[in-house]
Amino acid sequence: MNKRDSLKKIEDKLRVLKESPLYEYRTTNNYFPVAGEGSHDATIMFVGEAPGRNEAKTGRPFCGAAGKILDTLLTSAGIKREDVFITNIVKDRPPENRDPSPREIEVYGPLLDQQIESIQPKVIATLGRYAMGYIMKNFNLEESLEPIGKAHGKAYKAQASYGPITIIALYHPCVAIYNNKTLPTLTADFATLGKYANKS
Ligand code: URA
Repeated sequence: MNKRDSLKKIEDKLRVLKESPLYEYRTTNNYFPVAGEGSHDATIMFVGEAPGRNEAKTGRPFCGAAGKILDTLLTSAGIKREDVFITNIVKDRPPENRDPSPREIEVYGPLLDQQIESIQPKVIATLGRYAMGYIMKNFNLEESLEPIGKAHGKAYKAQASYGPITIIALYHPCVAIYNNKTLPTLTADFATLGKYANKS
């Protein structure tokens, strides 16, 4: 199956994911599921936490306040948004933007795994501690897990089913909304990603 068809199949599964604890909340609020968007041939895949209100209203990842910061950081690193793929672990909005629950991560995680298998990125950049924890565990890097305050900006080598992969842990762009002082740190960490851009 080609990438377009396999990604479409994942979106179709997400649309009818009735076993999700967030499915009813999605439908009663007329929200959209947020599968992810970007290049199917992306070298770099960004994995965030879960959609917020703007994302659920539009069906697009990182299109609200956190998205504006992400766009600024991508530009500063010389990366074009259309060249990467951007998604989340949890693909429906949790009420009040609360942290995702273990059950939600369990339900949506396999869809993220299938997206990774389809796109076959060389780099996964995790945004925030939930994405870092999920991806590091999935790529057998559990023993290297550290608090995000220590892990941010570090690159971890791992093996995907399709070849070598680098995992780069980043703070979630939201931290810059609450604490402006973190922006230089985020900018420096994103700069480490620049060298992987456009090398598919
Ligand atoms: N925060 C996330 O983790 N993902 C989004 O898509 C938006 C905000």
